[in-house]
Order: sequence, then C-alpha cells, then structure tokens
Amino acid sequence: MHPMLNIAVRAARTAGKVIVRSMEQLDKVEVQSKGTNDFVTSVDLLSEEAIIDTIRKSYPDHTIIGEESGVLKGKDDDYQWIVDPLDGTSNFVKGIPHFAVSIALKVKGKLDQAVVFDPVRGELFTASRGKGAQLNGFRIRISKNKELAGTILATGFPFKQKQHTAAYMAMFSALFQKTSDMRRGGSAALDLAYVAAGRVDGFFEIGLKPWDTAAGELLVIEAGGLVTDFTGGHNHAQSGNIVAANTRILKDILQEIRPHLGDALSK
Ligand code: IPD
Ligand code: CA
Ligand code: CA
Ligand code: CA
Repeated sequence: MHPMLNIAVRAARTAGKVIVRSMEQLDKVEVQSKGTNDFVTSVDLLSEEAIIDTIRKSYPDHTIIGEESGVLKGKDDDYQWIVDPLDGTSNFVKGIPHFAVSIALKVKGKLDQAVVFDPVRGELFTASRGKGAQLNGFRIRISKNKELAGTILATGFPFKQKQHTAAYMAMFSALFQKTSDMRRGGSAALDLAYVAAGRVDGFFEIGLKPWDTAAGELLVIEAGGLVTDFTGGHNHAQSGNIVAANTRILKDILQEIRPHLGDALSK
C-alpha cells in the first residue's frame, strides 16, 4: 500500500472508532447549527481532530482542508488532504448507522489517494491513482449496465439548499421514470463508494462540497467510471453538481438532467 494511503487509512480508522464509540451515548452529543438544516456535532469535531493529528504526525508540512477546520495551509502546498470527518451527520444525529469518514490526497492538484470508511460495517474503500479501487483489499469495479432500464441510482436531496427543490425534483422525476429505483442513503461519500463497487449504477446530486466528493471521485475513476458536472464537463468540484457512473449510463443521466438545468444549476 502507498505510504500516504496507509496514513489516510490509519486516520480514517482512528476517526471511525471515535464516531462509533460516541454512537453508544448519542444523548451526550452536542449539536450545533451552521445554517439551514446544516448541523455539526461535537463528534464531527473530535473526528476531524483525530484525522488532522494523524496526518500531521507523518506529514507536518502538508496542507489539510477539513470541512470543520477550513484550510490549514502547510509549507508544502503541493500536497493537499481533503477531509470530511463525518459524512452523513444527519444520519448520525438520528442514530441511523449509515455514515462515513472520507479522506482524499491531492498531489499538485490531482487526486492521488482516497479512503472512504464506513466504521459501522467495517467497510474500507480505498484507491490509489492508476492502481484501481478496493473494498477491504479486494478489487471493485463499476456496474456494467448499458442503459437506465434496470438500474438503481443513488442520489441526495438538496436539503441544505431548498431553493433548488423544483429543479432537483424535475431531474429526479425524469430519471425515476427511466430507472428501476432510487436510493437516498444520506452520505454522498458512501454513495460514490457504492457506485465504485457496482452496488448502485450511478449517482447524482446538487451542491456538494469538495470534502463530500474528493475521495469518492477517485474511487469511481479507479473502478472504471466517470465523474462529471451536469453538462458532462469537469466543473463539479466548483459547482458541487455531480454525476458519477459508467460512460454509457452517465451519458443517459446527463440527457435526462439537461432539460432541467436552470440558471443556478448551469453546470
Ligand atoms: C452531507 C451528506 C449528504 C448530502 C449532503 C452532504 P455531511 O454531508 O453527504 O448525503 O446529501 O449534501 O452535505 O454534512 O453530513 O458531511
Ligand atoms: Ca456537514
Ligand atoms: Ca459531507
Ligand atoms: Ca461532514
């Protein structure tokens, strides 16, 4: 295993322990609001602290971008760790055991290493640039479906940006007619990991942040898939509007989404 991936795995496992332990005493977890339907708990913060400590011990000069800490610029900005310490906070707060730790490393702007860890199921999704994607050490590959008929797509509702409800619902409705079913799991990082593992055939969501998608994006690419914005371009890290699937399914998803792109959702 690449030494930097090894550190990412160690960080994710340590953070996972912090999260699972606090699940046993959910009533003691402090919840604060950051914005509309946007929550942060004491556990998100503890998890992020554990991850930053682990990375810093091995790589004190690297830059770390954490959802809760923002940009911690290091001397060597060529290495950027992108951290979501708890993806699926809404699930966690309700005691729904579906959430993940997501850690990606970018080297000179390119995704290089990725970990998405589901600490409840003990599922560790990893990828290294050019080396494929794995689940608990076993190679995973994207679904081979060639058309939307018969597929299950994962998605997320724009619950923090309800101004996008109408546009989102129009896209959902168009896709729902063509697919077999949809899943809304509540963790974008796991949604992307499940695309990589072929558990779902594709994924789309509006307005995600880099820490939600960085690790999952490398998983999907290394599993043989594609990740784009809503126009098929590569603006998804900026816009947060993201589609992931194999080439054929992605093309079909974009075709259904395209008629519903409003001004706010141009890419
Ligand atoms: C959220 C989850 C969710 C998605 C949200 C994200 P958080 O991340 O990934 O599935 O629908 O848009 O913000 O805040 O729980 O880390
Ligand atoms: Ca959050
Ligand atoms: Ca997240
Ligand atoms: Ca989070």
